[in-house]
Amino acid sequence: MRTITDIRKEYFKKLDYLDLELIIAHALKKSREFVVSHLEYELSEARLAAIQSFVVRRAKHEPLAYILGHKEFYGFDFKVTPNTLIPRPETESLVEDVLRHLQAADRGQKTVIDIGTGSGNIIISLARILSDSKFQIPNSKFYGIDISKEALRIAKHNAKSNGVSEKIKFLHGNLLEPMFEIHSAFRIPHSIIITANLPYLSREIYDATLPNVKKYEPKSALYSPDEGLAHYEALFKQLEKTIANYGPQIEIFLEISPEQKTKLPKLIKKHLPDARVEFRKDLAGKWRVCHIAL
Ligand SMILES: C[S@@+](CC[C@H](N)C(=O)[O-])C[C@H]1O[C@@H](n2cnc3c(N)ncnc32)[C@H](O)[C@@H]1O
Repeated sequence: MRTITDIRKEYFKKLDYLDLELIIAHALKKSREFVVSHLEYELSEARLAAIQSFVVRRAKHEPLAYILGHKEFYGFDFKVTPNTLIPRPETESLVEDVLRHLQAADRGQKTVIDIGTGSGNIIISLARILSDSKFQIPNSKFYGIDISKEALRIAKHNAKSNGVSEKIKFLHGNLLEPMFEIHSAFRIPHSIIITANLPYLSREIYDATLPNVKKYEPKSALYSPDEGLAHYEALFKQLEKTIANYGPQIEIFLEISPEQKTKLPKLIKKHLPDARVEFRKDLAGKWRVCHIAL
């Protein structure tokens, strides 16, 4: 019988150790700690076959998160499938910025709407953290919207596994549109937080993106026409109408591509002339979040 040590020796040139250990752990349905502390563990034929097939997929550059079927984001665990974008570490900056804003804001009721929710990573993280006593904001409402029904299915699964399925309503539709059907949403005089990590890669940047991203992750989650800004402009147009009809207090947090910092202020002013606009950097020092206050 072959052991974990044998497998590590056989494959260490093909994959890096961390990926290989996570793949072995996944095939054994054990933790990585188990793998590294049981190197003489004997592997059944079925487990060996599973490890081999995962190694082949990884060697072809399939993202590890799709092989393992999940990804950590903001310290929480999220199921991912090829229908959902894999949550990125830089998106944690957007969650941080919302929390920093809320810490400074009043404790009044909030409606938090996440547009382009994907695996639900942003809204689920916010719902979990805001339920914590440190942040407790009474009666807050949480919504996650996506145009992809498959993504919404995964987001609902993740809300359940993270213990917040009662708190979040997931809606199918184009950007903010599904919220217009919820008549109370924009009428009550309480503040609204909108988060959106919509597709924002320009044609040029999408074409230059790593082949494994293009091959495995959904293009509909990444690419946007008009220099990557078509989805955000469509959202600004919807917001323009919303404000004209209802006039609520809205804070918007968008994840952006760094070079969009120079183009966005003009585009925002065109549709939302009274908006205050600020930009924040991510941990890598790149412009990543656009905060718009209406
Ligand atoms: C960049 S992914 C972000 C996913 C997730 N929020 C995250 O941070 O990892 C963009 C998401 O927006 C969704 N999307 C694209 N166009 C949309 C639209 N017009 N209305 C709503 N969602 C849209 C995609 O299906 C995808 O799930």
